[in-house]
Amino acid sequence: MIRGAITTLTTLALMCASVKGFAQSPGGNFLPEQIKKGAALYAANCESCHGVRMLGPQWGIDLATFPRDRPDRFLDSVTNGTKAMPPWGDLLKPVDIQALWSYVVAGEPKN
Ligand code: HEC
Repeated sequence: MIRGAITTLTTLALMCASVKGFAQSPGGNFLPEQIKKGAALYAANCESCHGVRMLGPQWGIDLATFPRDRPDRFLDSVTNGTKAMPPWGDLLKPVDIQALWSYVVAGEPKN
């Protein structure tokens, strides 16, 4: 009984730690596979408005200018949408959005 409660608490603590890890992960610290996955997701879902490889966005904002210290806002805006930007939460899981974040931050050479 007590042991079960402790296991539950430990699991919860680990879950919070990983969400916190997403919110605070600094740029440049991503796995190559994650960036590659983000690039594929970007090409499939985002480039029509934000530009091929984030260059010359047709309609959406230039993601190269998105603040690098706001992964929390990225997760929120992409999941729930914002103004003219459609929500993606039905289509993309948080882990997918994290891959997209890694691509936006680290996936293309900055000029
Ligand atoms: C249908 C066109 C369209 C598509 C597709 C699209 N976006 Fe956007 N996005 C926009 C527009 C327009 C804005 C500017 C919204 C505004 O007025 O603030 C935007 C804004 C954003 C922002 C900034 C939000 C903020 O908090 O300032 C992010 C981040 C973003 N898009 C990421 C993505 C990602 C990731 C994808 C692919 C999963 C994507 N967008 C697909 C149109 C699009």
